Parts: sequence; C-alpha cells; structure tokens
Amino acid sequence: MNSSAALNAFKALLTPAQILSVPEDMAPFLCDWRKRYFGKALAVLLPSNTAEVAQIVRICAEFHISLVPQGGNTGLCGGATPDQSGSQVVLSLKRMNHIRALDLDNQTITVEAGCILQSIQDAAAEQGLLFPLSLGAEGSCCIGGNLATNAGGTNVLRYGNARDLCLGLEVVTANGEIWHGLRGLRKDNTGYDLRDLFIGSEGTLGIISAAVLKLYPMPVCQWTSLVATPSIPATIQLLNLFKQKATSLLTGFEMMTAESLALTEKQFPQMRNPLGENPPFTVLIELSDHESEAHARNLVEAILAEALELGIATNAVIANSIAQANTFWQMREHITLAQAQEGANLKHDITIPLSAFENFITATDQVLREKYPQVRIINFGHLGDGNLHYNVAAPTGVDSTIFNAANEALVHDIIYSMVEKFGGSISAEHGIGQLKMRDLRAHKGAIAHDLMQMIKTALDPHNILNPNKVLPAKVN
Ligand code: FAD
Ligand code: MLT
Ligand code: ZN
Repeated sequence: MNSSAALNAFKALLTPAQILSVPEDMAPFLCDWRKRYFGKALAVLLPSNTAEVAQIVRICAEFHISLVPQGGNTGLCGGATPDQSGSQVVLSLKRMNHIRALDLDNQTITVEAGCILQSIQDAAAEQGLLFPLSLGAEGSCCIGGNLATNAGGTNVLRYGNARDLCLGLEVVTANGEIWHGLRGLRKDNTGYDLRDLFIGSEGTLGIISAAVLKLYPMPVCQWTSLVATPSIPATIQLLNLFKQKATSLLTGFEMMTAESLALTEKQFPQMRNPLGENPPFTVLIELSDHESEAHARNLVEAILAEALELGIATNAVIANSIAQANTFWQMREHITLAQAQEGANLKHDITIPLSAFENFITATDQVLREKYPQVRIINFGHLGDGNLHYNVAAPTGVDSTIFNAANEALVHDIIYSMVEKFGGSISAEHGIGQLKMRDLRAHKGAIAHDLMQMIKTALDPHNILNPNKVLPAKVN
C-alpha cells in the first residue's frame, strides 16, 4: 500500500510530534477558516526545516501521495484544505517560524515560511523599520501563505501587495529539490522571474520555505480618520483629492457601506460608528508621515475641510489617540468576523477600474435584486485599490446554508458576468483555491489558462502539489 509505506517513511524522518494522524488532532487542519470546505487526510506533517520539507516531498513523489501546503489556514478560497479522499497529506509550515536575518543596510528581513505575519512586523518595528503588509488575519496568517496567495490588505495603496514586498524565495520543488533563491536584490534581470512564478501560485507549483522581504522606514506618526461620504462618485473624488494633496503619505483608504457597518454593530454592539447613524459610506483614511505629527495633522485637516466644502464629505472625525485609531481599524476589520458570525455568505473579492465602479455596483445590484429582492448586499473594501468585497447574504430569516446551496452558482454567475462586462477581475487578493477554480478559465481566457496549465505540468508533472486547486486536475 502506497499510503502505509509513505507513512512509515514519514515516521522514519520525523518525530512523533511532527506527525498527526488521529482525527481529533488533525481536525483543525482539515477545514477552512469559513468552515466552508471540509477534507480528510492521511496525516498532517509539521516539518521544522527546509531539508525536512524536501524529504517529505521526495517521499510523496515516490509514493504518489499529493500534498496540501498550509500556513495559518486563514485563506478564504479553500486552497489549504485537503480533498475528501483521505489520501492527501497536509504539510503545515507552522513550525518553520524563525527569522533568519535582518539586514539593516539592505533594509531586508529573511524569514521562514511559517512566521506569523504580525511577528515579522514586530521584528522589523524593534529595529525602527516597517514591514507594511497588513491584514485582518495578521495575528494568525503566515508569510508563506501570504506569498502563496499574493495577499493584499490595507497598505497596498502605498506599498503594494505581497509580491511587491518580496525580493527572494527559497522553494522546495515538486521533485524535492531546494531552489535557493533567497536574494535581497532590488534589481535582478537574469531571465525568467521564478520568484514571481511561485508568488500567488497557492501551493500548486512549489513549497515556499523562506523569503527575503523588503523593509521601509517607520513613519513617525499616523493620522486615522473616518469620513462620511454620500455616494460612490464622491468617495472616488475624495480618494483622488487625498492622492493629489497627501501623495505618498496616503497609506490607507477603506470603504464601508452602511449595511456592512450595521451588520458589524449587530454582531459586535460595542463597535459603534463615531460618525453617528451610519452614513451611506464610511471611509477610513490613514496618513503616515515621516516628518512630524503637526505636519500630518495640518494636512489631514486641510484636505478634510476642502472635502466638506466641496460636499464630497459630509462629516469627519480624526482619531485623537492611537487607541482611538485602533478602534476605527477594529470596526473595519470586524466586518469579516461579523459576516462569519451572522452565517455563511457568498463572498466575491473583485477589482473594478475606479472609473467603472459606480456603474458596476448599480448594474450588479439591480440584476441581483431583480432575481433576489430580499437579499442582503454587504459591501466593503480597499477602495484605494479598486478592490471591492461584494458579499451576498441570505435574506433575513432565511437559512443561509440552504439559500447558498440553492443559489450560489447563479449569484456567482450574475456577479462575475458583471465583473467581465466592466473590465474587472474575479480575484483581487484572496486567490482562486477551490472556490473560483471553475470560473477561472472563462475569466482568464483559454490561452492564458492553457499557459498556466503548461507551467503547472512543467513544474509538477505528477500533479502532487495541491492538485485540484487553482487548476482542475487533468483526467488521464
Ligand atoms: P493558508 O490559508 O494556510 O493557505 C493559503 C494558500 O496558500 C493555500 O492554497 C495553501 O496551500 C498555500 N500555502 C500556504 N503556505 C504555503 C507555502 N509555504 N508554500 C506554498 N503554498 C502555501 N487576504 C487578503 O489578501 N487581504 C485581506 O485584507 C485579508 N483579510 C483577511 C481577514 C480575515 C479575518 C481572514 C480570516 C482572512 C483574510 N484574508 C485576507 C485572507 C487570508 O488571510 C490570506 O489569504 C492569507 O494570505 C493566507 O495566509 P495563510 O498563512 O493563512 O495561508
Ligand atoms: C478584508 O478586506 O477584510 C478581507 O479581505 C477579508 C474579507 O474579504 O472578508
Ligand atoms: Zn480585503
């Protein structure tokens, strides 16, 4: 039996604490954060170094066992959940959580894949430097998962997404070799960019075991404000006003609809909008300054005064302490938690060109409401990046599991066809995983999809790395 021979080989390689095979021990690794996907596994393996990862992959290759890499298991597309066969292994990188080096001159940090994002931010901050990747799951997601999904978050507007923050990678390939690409170079035009191939590949092309990341000077202060806006066009005008006047000081621009904040208040009554009754749109704006507190504060006040004068903002409050700024951010980040508590919902993580944003929302809401008049649309997102989280929840009083099972395909079709019509993307930052695999070919186009398939076949000819994620496994 391949599986028992493989298990024996894993046991010869790892300590008992590094192999979980009892169902209760494996359970947390076998379903996703949203509890939408449930799988089974032969074992969960917890290597502690890159050499062990390479050995595990070699064993898997020899015995034709497929493996599912996993970091913090906070992904929102089911990419880290094994299938139902019980024949796959979950490869958790959690134990590989060492910071290997912090280079002050080069402003880089070299970290293992299982480092929690927040611990990297903290290590950089101890040296007065900033690692700017920031997202609601930062206390539990791992950098390997962030890179594998090319995570976005709230600082993309200023610093880019995970891809933009990574200079080098160490990767274990599908045949168990180690690619030593841990270079801290900001320029390196030596042929094809392998690093960029692995970033965003969701564990289907290689296992990221370590990375070199860019660091930035830590700003001396941040000013966070909540601003009420009357409409989408006004919100976009506000964004462009801040871009023009605050230029690179603008580090966050998050949009929340009244419905999304009402849901947050319902689930977390302590989270109240300081703007009073929820306006149509509440925008969280963050400025980060390297000069002085007064400089940034004067700038924020001047821009907000102009916005109020122009009527593109109707009310605003500037946080007067770090603690208050944190409560603004918590309100924003609790939307996801509120949604999860309210019941399963149909999530769509999309980007739309800002010039088409309003027309997209109007047209999509209309088509959706014609079919489902009572459905709840819970929208929010990283407006500064044109990234909208367009979420559909069952009508109040309707069982969300039953509603979703019956309507998920049609709701996705309605929204994704509108995304196509308005020139957007069906995945802005969460990835494809299992959730969007069936929609990818139509969206990406046959040629691009075929090229992706060729890359997959070239790098993982026996399809042992996270099969049936991103791309459907080929039936021979
Ligand atoms: P996992 O969920 O463990 O894995 C995700 C994918 O990466 C899987 O396909 C897995 O196989 C693969 N993978 C993991 N580690 C490796 C590795 N070492 N090598 C190769 N492949 C690997 N995402 C955003 O982009 N922006 C947000 O603002 C954001 N906010 C969130 C807020 C909340 C509350 C939650 C729950 C999630 C949020 N996410 C967000 C989604 C999620 O946190 C990100 O996708 C994150 O990057 C996943 O990291 P992880 O370590 O949890 O990866
Ligand atoms: C966010 O922006 O909060 C995350 O992407 C999570 C989500 O979409 O719910
Ligand atoms: Zn997001």
